[in-house]
Amino acid sequence: MKKITIAELLSSKNILQEITVKGWVRTFRANRFIALNDGSTLNNIQCVVDFENTDEATLKRITTGAAIEIKGMLAESIGKGQSVEIQVSKITILGDCNPDEYPIQPKKHSLEFLRENAHLRIRTNTFSAVMRLRSALSFAVHKYFTENGFYNFHAPIITGSDAEGAGEMFQVSILDNINPPKTEEGKIDYSKDFFGKETNLTVSGQLEAETYAMALGKVYTFGPTFRAENSNTSRHLAEFWMIEPEVAFNNLDDNMDLAEDFIKSVITYVTINCKDDLAFLNDRLLQEDKTKPANERSEMSLIEKLNFVIENNFKRVSYTEAIDILRNCKPNKKKQFQYLIEDWGTDLQSEHERFLVEKHFKCPVILFDYPANIKAFYMRLNQDGKTVRAMDVLFPGIGEIVGGSQREERLDVLQQKIKDLNIDEKELWWYLDTRKFGTAEHSGFGLGFERLVQFVTGMGNIRDVIPYPRTPQNAEF
Ligand code: 4AD
Repeated sequence: MKKITIAELLSSKNILQEITVKGWVRTFRANRFIALNDGSTLNNIQCVVDFENTDEATLKRITTGAAIEIKGMLAESIGKGQSVEIQVSKITILGDCNPDEYPIQPKKHSLEFLRENAHLRIRTNTFSAVMRLRSALSFAVHKYFTENGFYNFHAPIITGSDAEGAGEMFQVSILDNINPPKTEEGKIDYSKDFFGKETNLTVSGQLEAETYAMALGKVYTFGPTFRAENSNTSRHLAEFWMIEPEVAFNNLDDNMDLAEDFIKSVITYVTINCKDDLAFLNDRLLQEDKTKPANERSEMSLIEKLNFVIENNFKRVSYTEAIDILRNCKPNKKKQFQYLIEDWGTDLQSEHERFLVEKHFKCPVILFDYPANIKAFYMRLNQDGKTVRAMDVLFPGIGEIVGGSQREERLDVLQQKIKDLNIDEKELWWYLDTRKFGTAEHSGFGLGFERLVQFVTGMGNIRDVIPYPRTPQNAEF
């Protein structure tokens, strides 16, 4: 017999059929009404128990969290809140759940408490909605790129190169860490290590993706990336998933068009296909907003925000224009920013990015043409000799969601940059080959998947949009 899910049952027109369904008890009221959930949808199915025909011992074991099998008849519901329900003929307890020990009770738990129980938090409405949306977004990413002629490219996770040049990498080594082999100069001898050289977990698949774009034209990676930066913020993880398209013959304008179209497309996908989960999270945020002082409440609901992003153009602003706006804005003049903007060339902090997006432009913003010395070595130098063809997409409530650039395709300019930054050219011989053999204009970007999931679900902390967050001092589960 085909197994049937609660999602299928709830949309079934086939009333009065005999069915068998398995799931977990969410609540059991009045010894009669079981709210049953199997994860296929946010919604529970109501199972009406005929307690006269059910033995006392079984009734006692129907507790929140218990796994059960229900046999019965799908019937039109006379109660409020659901169109169908199950008239139960037989209940089998598959797995008991001791109510005195089970942490997930049918009441509101704090997100902090649930983080400590990350293996069980997925059994709550909030987390099941978030993770179903995460899954749908992931599908939408692959769908978008496949439909637009991109090839999915699996970048290596263990690498010898530091793509971003920031040095925030996790080392991969099997050397004895108490007594590692040493070279004559007394340094650790990585030639004796597993790979015969120093290796790390990747911070970005970009450099390898560039080599593939130079043959397949349009490629994208979607994989885990790792950063050992000690940032304990609501937007940083040590292990996060990044989507990195890379396109041959694209310049920075094409790159901005791609980023905007891609983001709008995946958000549109979930607004059409994940209505129940979004409605639930929308309502959750409305309730949360009511507890805040009036001046801290959102101007738009979650769903309004998503539609706003889909329907409006992202504002494209050069770094130089942004600095002018920031230098003359009220919070800068009144010294309300933690980092004051004085000179051209300073890096923007998240307070500045959020001011531009949330207060000044009130829409997603793409900043471009940043000072060369605050950006990575591979970005294309502009004619002014001091800015590079970089772009960051900034989102309300999130800050930077995308970072990308047109790449430096001129071998001599790239080699000079590598030299200026004291990067070992020998390590990048394979990367430089792309500039020696058939070099061409090309561009790409990286989108932090968790930041996208945060925006779509309205979750304030990035630790709540990835199943098992990895952050400083935390690798439980
Ligand atoms: O701006 P980033 O560092 O860009 C790169 O890594 C480029 N190689 C991408 C490329 O051009 N192919 O990172 C890209 C995005 C950021 O905009 C942010 O959304 C996310 O990755 N990100 C993080 N997300 C969570 N935790 C962290 N620690 C993150 N660091 C970056």
